[in-house]
Amino acid sequence: MASANAVAFFFFVALLLPASLAQLSENFYDKTCPTLPNIVRAAVKKAIDSDVRAGAKLIRLHFHDCFVNGCDGSVLLVDAPGIISELNSPGNEGIQGLEIVDAIKADVERGCPGVVSCADILAQASKDSVNLQGGPSWRVLHGRRDSRIANKTGADANLASPFETLVQLKAKFAAVGLGTTDLVALSGAHTFGRSRCRFFSHRFSNFNNTGSPDPSLNPSYRQVLEGVCSAGPDTRANFDPTTPDVFDKNYYTNLKVGKGLLQSDQELFSTPGADTIAIVDSFADREGTFFKEFRQSMINMGNIKPLTGSSGEIRRNCARVNAARIGGEGHDVM
Ligand code: HEM
Repeated sequence: MASANAVAFFFFVALLLPASLAQLSENFYDKTCPTLPNIVRAAVKKAIDSDVRAGAKLIRLHFHDCFVNGCDGSVLLVDAPGIISELNSPGNEGIQGLEIVDAIKADVERGCPGVVSCADILAQASKDSVNLQGGPSWRVLHGRRDSRIANKTGADANLASPFETLVQLKAKFAAVGLGTTDLVALSGAHTFGRSRCRFFSHRFSNFNNTGSPDPSLNPSYRQVLEGVCSAGPDTRANFDPTTPDVFDKNYYTNLKVGKGLLQSDQELFSTPGADTIAIVDSFADREGTFFKEFRQSMINMGNIKPLTGSSGEIRRNCARVNAARIGGEGHDVM
């Protein structure tokens, strides 16, 4: 009787698990592509060797993928008949790193043809991007499949904007099942990479029609940024003025002295009474705490609504859906 109850309890708990958690797995490619981790790590390392920002570009693509229709590679699709690319959305305007994904995919296809999705490549490459720049490592869950559609209106609605308030940012994370700790931990990816001035120069003067600069922006840091941005709105500034290319906890120590680059960064610490302040404090105090939460939050983000089983497809080319499965000359028979 007790064991029957245990079995019933097991099925009850299994039903409560989000489908994604039940379906993605650490061992997904153990038989079909056991060398995947090595191939991706080598390709990410090669990319970083020629572009120190490569890792930052890759993890940002994974984030923008997962927030629109789940982690299904939809962000990578370019305009085509029947596809309005998410890259046309303001939140993706000027996003970089697509050619790095293509290079990684080419290496993966050479080792394991037709097996590994672009969505899984983004998840795996994000882990290596972080780890190769000094951040934590984790076992990436796999089994995502690639979408055959893009959702440009979804990208317009769901991607976070640097001009938003903390309440708005929390709502966008909540809409995909992520909480406040996820928001603070994942924003820590702004410990590396760059932002164009157009996304933060509104903080320099007449902020919110006050006639003054953003009061939460450190005045000496503001002067440095104004100097950088005098070269124009497309000039890029380091997210982290202390260790620009290292994945460490300095994003949070910067926030504590008014050196968050985007309004949306600084709000995590400077919104009066916000529950995010204590989280920033704890990450600034101990890098281990940040790394532990970041790992978990990356897994949480990677679990957003994946396509699994026989849904979607394994794209041959990350930028395009496979041709229809009707066989015959000139048709892709994937
Ligand atoms: C919380 C809301 C977020 C907002 C409003 C935001 C906004 C931005 C903006 C405006 C840029 C600069 C883009 C450009 O100049 O082209 C940027 C870059 C970046 N974002 Fe975020 N972001 C957010 C969260 C995240 C998350 C969750 C991650 C990853 C886990 C991430 C990773 C990055 C990285 C690494 C870069 C630098 C990319 C590069 O150097 O090319 N961001 N973000």
